[in-house]
Amino acid sequence: MFKAPRGTKDILPPEQGYWKWVTEKAAQISQLYGYQRIDTPVFEDAGLFLHSVGEETDIVEKQMYTFDDRGGDKITLRPEGTAPVCRAYIEHGLHNLPQPVRLYYFGPIFRYERPQAGRFRQHQQFGCEAIGAADAALDAEIIDMAWTLYASLGLKNLTLQLNSIGCRTCRREYLERLKGYYLSHAGSLCRDCKGRLFRNPLRLLDCKNPACHELVKGAPRITEYICTDCQAHFGVLRDCLAALQIPYEVNPYLVRGLDYYTRTVFEIQPVDVGGQSTIGGGGRYDNLIEILDGKPTPAVGFATGLERIILNLQKQGLEPPAVSTAKVYVAHLGAEARKEAVRLSARLRQAGIGATLAVDDRSLKAQLKQANAQGFSHAVIIGEEELRTGSVVLRDMAQGEQTQLSLDEAIRKLKG
Ligand code: HAM
Repeated sequence: MFKAPRGTKDILPPEQGYWKWVTEKAAQISQLYGYQRIDTPVFEDAGLFLHSVGEETDIVEKQMYTFDDRGGDKITLRPEGTAPVCRAYIEHGLHNLPQPVRLYYFGPIFRYERPQAGRFRQHQQFGCEAIGAADAALDAEIIDMAWTLYASLGLKNLTLQLNSIGCRTCRREYLERLKGYYLSHAGSLCRDCKGRLFRNPLRLLDCKNPACHELVKGAPRITEYICTDCQAHFGVLRDCLAALQIPYEVNPYLVRGLDYYTRTVFEIQPVDVGGQSTIGGGGRYDNLIEILDGKPTPAVGFATGLERIILNLQKQGLEPPAVSTAKVYVAHLGAEARKEAVRLSARLRQAGIGATLAVDDRSLKAQLKQANAQGFSHAVIIGEEELRTGSVVLRDMAQGEQTQLSLDEAIRKLKG
């Protein structure tokens, strides 16, 4: 028997209400903040992610779905959404538009991870990218959008972790200090970290291995090394967050799993479970467009996993608003009545009334039982008598009351 591949999931009808709720809220908020939708392909040239996410990251080293296609091109199923949006920004000359360009997206993301609660090999992200401005007020706007999305769904007990990891210039001295610190503890490092110590020491702060994680506590703090410009930028961001009354915690060891960040990084986490199940995260990436061969262009963005939002909604007992489904069940008795029922169902739908036709020859009792079980508010019934008089029986399923009337009258009643 075939099963959905490990780390993937089917979204069955009972869960669709959550998806509709969350995606509609996210799209509404994006539009309120002036963001426009962009869709990029599910797969890209593998090189795009090697250059942007970083060769020394878990995503590139261990998690990408990469393959040669039949034409011999190296293809990767997108493991994140920012690099594709930047690729599109450059490819379509979006720098010619008024800046910053504000974009949002939804789409599947693929990472070969060890599946567990809230961690999938295919998950769905909602993300926003604001490209073309360095102003820290834009970082605050992005954080505010994420915070507002969670709040508008009713999610509680979330914390915002915030850090500045400086720019290319000021990070250099910090990285030397960090290397020095970890060299003096080299014996306790995991194999990955030993390998990354010289090539990408910032990654060591993000290692999930318990021994490496323990070492983070004594590591030098980047906030003490960032240059005056980066400090000023961080100061403006903090002022804006205060103005927005968004509470946050500065975490000087917060780095993210992708290499393209500069200055601001942030993560939003449920209080009780912390970093293992971060619900959303992002930051500034002022060098990325240039790395991808565009003109130097500052940018900032965030993304959030829809499965993780829904998991937290369910944990907190929050339910999507009820949506009305098809209203009327069209029941019939006999071959002639079935033909008429097909025609009536079509007329009901043309009048904007959801109609579901009974199928297979079943007794009227069995048909009404099914209508009840599926939560229809009304049934329209056609039998011999109705065929003869050109009428229908309209039954109120909750009350059990029924009246014989013309289809036009039934439509008027159902619409009312
Ligand atoms: P990320 O932190 O790697 O950032 O992913 C964003 C969010 O996607 C996470 O906070 C989490 O909710 C969800 N997520 C990640 N991996 C999984 C998984 N395996 N299963 C379920 N959910 C997952 C990025 O991808 C950046 N592109 C965000 C960004 C946008 N930075 C700037 N702009």
